[in-house]
Amino acid sequence: MFRIAPSLLSADFGNLAEAVGQVASETDWVHVDVMDAHFVPNLTIGPPVVESLRKHTGLFFDCHLMMASPGDYLQAFRQAGADGCTVHVEVGDTSELLAQARSLGLRAGLALNPETPYEAVEPFLDQADLILCMTVHPGFGGQSFMEEVVPKMARIRTELDRRGLSAELEVDGGIDEQTAPVVVRAGASVLVAGSAVFCMHRPWEAVRRIREAGMAGLSAG
Ligand code: DX5
Ligand code: ZN
Repeated sequence: MFRIAPSLLSADFGNLAEAVGQVASETDWVHVDVMDAHFVPNLTIGPPVVESLRKHTGLFFDCHLMMASPGDYLQAFRQAGADGCTVHVEVGDTSELLAQARSLGLRAGLALNPETPYEAVEPFLDQADLILCMTVHPGFGGQSFMEEVVPKMARIRTELDRRGLSAELEVDGGIDEQTAPVVVRAGASVLVAGSAVFCMHRPWEAVRRIREAGMAGLSAG
């Protein structure tokens, strides 16, 4: 099975608590995109916003740290109420960062960019609670799904299963009703969707439709 994690990046930043409330009936995770203007050319939100939002919801905060120095902020995100923090393999110090996240009581995630090869994450699969496969270049919402990443995602799924690892396989970028069946068949267990949820008039219906499309893909596959 799989879950949908709506990405707040496409929500109204002036009404984030309301945005979370709009999807709470349809999911138990929300995806929080943290960008530092170094690792990616965009700047979003930090621990104070997570802390404020924490007062409004019990949903799992899946924080995607697109940061050059995530280790300097893991503790602050934990204290703010993050449940999981995902760091990028491209920044290095991967074992240390995953261990630090786990020691803080966070679910430790490891992300890889579209052009980063499978081999970059292979040594760390058993140290992560979640592997995040980017299907767009990180930094912005509303980009087109990169289908060429699907074989890499399927390879990660195969290796997780072969080793008996229960880490989530999350996919992020360009997920909508059309692409959900593709990634579910490739073994994704968490589907991040930003613009396909929060740019819609009724975000809760959008989550439901993406889930139904993914389920249809499973039964067809
Ligand atoms: C992009 C972010 C994504 C983004 C996805 O760098 O990591 O989580 O919100 O947006 P969509 O679903 O619109 O591609
Ligand atoms: Zn993200």
